[in-house]
Amino acid sequence: MNEILKIEKLSKYFGGVKAVHNFNLSLQEGKIHGLIGPNGAGKTTIFNLITGIYKPMDGNIIFCNQDITGKKPYSIARLGIGRTFQNIKLFANLTALQNVIIAGNQDITYNLLESFLRTVKFRKEEKSLREKAMMLLETVGLADMADKMASNLPYGHQRKLEIARALALNPRLLLLDEPAAGMNTEESKELVTFIYDIKERFNLTILIIEHHMDVISNLCDECTVLNFGETICRGCPSTVKRDRLVIEAYLGEEYVC
Ligand SMILES: Nc1ncnc2c1ncn2[C@@H]1O[C@H](COP(=O)(O)OP(=O)(O)OP(=O)(O)O)[C@@H](O)[C@H]1O
Ligand SMILES: [Mg+2]
Repeated sequence: MNEILKIEKLSKYFGGVKAVHNFNLSLQEGKIHGLIGPNGAGKTTIFNLITGIYKPMDGNIIFCNQDITGKKPYSIARLGIGRTFQNIKLFANLTALQNVIIAGNQDITYNLLESFLRTVKFRKEEKSLREKAMMLLETVGLADMADKMASNLPYGHQRKLEIARALALNPRLLLLDEPAAGMNTEESKELVTFIYDIKERFNLTILIIEHHMDVISNLCDECTVLNFGETICRGCPSTVKRDRLVIEAYLGEEYVC
């Protein structure tokens, strides 16, 4: 099995706050890895470092054998890393379909003049971009909402739309930041099946941040627990849930078996 992502000694401080300290990860292709831990533990900061939003103070990030440390977000996205955001980021005044079309525009090869003249090439590429966006909306169950403004979609649908936008980048690695936030038990069960299905269908490797332990337990091959920027435990979810440090720092006594 191939190592798709390797992170070595990654650190990021904000003033005196050690948001991430000496973080290491080896992620094999096709796996689902969970990042868990209390609020402020450094989970989202790790996503922001991988996707180039923050530059690390120390450490390396290797994706598909290529050093992506400190590269610009658009270059990293083009290399095949898609993500969703903890605080949903959509174009509120565009439709669901337009949101996905825009996300997929790295597939475009026509130039400004060709678009102005509406050449055959332009029309062909626009058509296939639109078809792909529709296919992705169908995949996430939003085909019948294609023409609705993103801002008018219910919260759960906006989260799914974010996933469709991330998939439009043709990612090999998908980072999901709290996709089950605000969902009830039934909805998060459905989400587990949905995430597993898209992983299989699009040959993805997934790194997921989640506070719902049932989602982590049912989905992840392995997970890492962070606390104050430090890795305190790593292993399969059932082992991690029994770890004394994890119970004390994050899960609480109700998880003691
Ligand atoms: N841009 C920033 N400027 C200053 N401090 C920051 C910034 N981003 C994150 N931090 C701090 O870094 C630490 C880690 O934050 P981060 O958002 O990564 O936590 P998290 O594990 O994702 O938490 P949550 O579960 O609440 O989303 C926190 O103390 C946070 O306040
Ligand atoms: Mg976060």
